[in-house]
Amino acid sequence: MDFKLLAAAVLLAAAPAYAETGGMEEASNAAAEIVDMRSTLAKSFIEPDKEITPETFKNVCGRVGARVKELSDTRGMKIRHATEQFRNPANKATAEEAAIIKRFAEDRDLKEILDEVDLDGTRYYRATRPIFVEEACLACHGKADARPAFIKEKYPDDRAFGYRAGDIRGIITVMVPENTEGEKR
Ligand code: HEC
Repeated sequence: MDFKLLAAAVLLAAAPAYAETGGMEEASNAAAEIVDMRSTLAKSFIEPDKEITPETFKNVCGRVGARVKELSDTRGMKIRHATEQFRNPANKATAEEAAIIKRFAEDRDLKEILDEVDLDGTRYYRATRPIFVEEACLACHGKADARPAFIKEKYPDDRAFGYRAGDIRGIITVMVPENTEGEKR
């Protein structure tokens, strides 16, 4: 039997609870959606030799931020980006998150981590996915000098540059409260 198929079968057998729970699936889908969305937007808005303006940003990571806010407001999700080389200091990885980033960096076959956590008395389904750097991201996350001026000005403590395509950029974590599962959110 193909090893990958066997591994998938073992995984599925080990996680019947997740297969049945809509909340976990919702968390997983939202994490995938945000990662794909940023990648698609970057590919469509970033063109070689085209100047990057604040408007361009609004169309890429800015639109992602708006979608994150929308999901948080309307679906009760908690969504967080974490990275060691942050641009927005709010996204600075904790020690726990840094360890997860390292795990994804070292194991490129690991696509997602699904688990459950307690936070302030609420139990959540949690989906965590890695975010990788692509060519289109380099316009704003590549060489230090190549960063658009508005980024240098707005983020004086910026560390989110110097990346190369294929590098791990960080993680996204989506949490869905368990007790509201099945309810209309
Ligand atoms: C047009 C410029 C631009 C492009 C292109 C861009 N980003 Fe960003 N990115 C930013 C800015 C500005 C922020 C900070 C947003 C904020 O204040 O929260 C950011 C923040 C992030 C964050 C949140 C973590 C942090 O450092 O604060 C991640 C993750 C991220 N970008 C990944 C990517 C990836 C992956 C791509 C390519 C698919 C990409 N970005 C393309 C400008 C860009």
